[in-house]
Amino acid sequence: HRRLRVALLGAGSVGSQVAHLLLTQAEELAERAGADLELAGIAVRDVDAPRDADLPRELLTTDAETLILGSDIVIELMGGIEPARTHILAALSSGADVVTGNKALLATHGAEIFDTADQVGASVSYEAAVAGAIPIIRPLKDSLAGDRIKRIFGIVNGSTNFILDKMDREGLSAAEAQRIATELGYLEADPTLDLEGYDAAQKAAILASLAFHTRVSLEDVHREGIESVTADMIEGARRAGFVIKLLAVCERLDADGADDGTVGGAEDGTEHGTAGGEAISVRVYPALIGRDHPLATVHGGNNAVFVEAAAAGDLMFYGAGAGGLQTASAVLGDVVSAARRHIAGGVGVGESPRQSLPIAPIGRIVTRY
Ligand code: NDP
Ligand code: HSE
Repeated sequence: HRRLRVALLGAGSVGSQVAHLLLTQAEELAERAGADLELAGIAVRDVDAPRDADLPRELLTTDAETLILGSDIVIELMGGIEPARTHILAALSSGADVVTGNKALLATHGAEIFDTADQVGASVSYEAAVAGAIPIIRPLKDSLAGDRIKRIFGIVNGSTNFILDKMDREGLSAAEAQRIATELGYLEADPTLDLEGYDAAQKAAILASLAFHTRVSLEDVHREGIESVTADMIEGARRAGFVIKLLAVCERLDADGADDGTVGGAEDGTEHGTAGGEAISVRVYPALIGRDHPLATVHGGNNAVFVEAAAAGDLMFYGAGAGGLQTASAVLGDVVSAARRHIAGGVGVGESPRQSLPIAPIGRIVTRY
């Protein structure tokens, strides 16, 4: 077996579970990857902070730069923009393949990262960035590459779903439900990212980019969070036969969709993009869902993503949308794929040779309602 050096950046909710699986399932992973995956080190902020007992403390370092150099695969699970962006660019430039769960970074600096990966011939994988454990990135990128996606909608934020669900089913206050979600590791380090809909909007931008083969970034997404949803609203909705869910919707509008009365006009600056062509709309908002709709049965930290494709018809992806161990599954899948690709010496089976997306053929992105 060849040996590949794996650098792990971050040992929080997800990173600690990735380290655990890399170490405890080393033999199985080596068989599947075709190479031994040697965990070379784990970059953290504070090497003396309390950690799970089985995390090998001798692997901890605050020197991410040195750890990255000489690594074959770099797993970024720090979160945030910096220093994650700098580390990922450095990893790619040194020839490493990158695996990340960082939707905040990809939804704002994705073009820079994918362009760099294309230039150096390295890969960036990010199955964990959208909907936790649910395989949705690769289905969109690969399995549905021959189809035409019309719409994607669903619940892509686990912590807000957990909070709304606890309020609806157990009558908990938002604060109490948020406390439990924090304990379960569902919330971002900055919980306003979840509560104000930024996290879901970042994921919607990533999904829309893949589905519509164009570049959609966070600023293109209409965003409303759950911070104004009260217990009274949830109770009122319940009595009327509805449940409140934070929805993400990415859709192609008809050629004249902007004029159908549901969206703003171009003249007030609410749309942008190249002239002509189709328009797409990407939005995140708390919605009333009928209790008999499948989305109403998505409880706790689970997510569900519906994809409507021209040839395939309706597809539904369901499972854990957050949580350290669940998300670590998606990360490890990407690591095994990156290892196979690495030892094959380039672009692997099922991998798109071009990762950066063009700014076409979508004409307009509608951003306000
Ligand atoms: P945590 O906040 O739990 O952990 C972050 C880790 O990164 C910590 O170990 C921290 O070090 C380290 N870190 C942060 N900043 C630095 C820095 N400047 N230098 C060195 N180390 C640093 O995050 P999560 O594990 O929850 O999330 C990681 C990523 O995965 C994020 O991008 C998140 O959006 C994404 N994600 C998270 C999911 C979840 O359910 N939690 C699900 C899907 C994706 P220290 O331990 O010393 O503080
Ligand atoms: N904070 C995110 C959520 C983690 O609640 O869905 C998973 O991406």
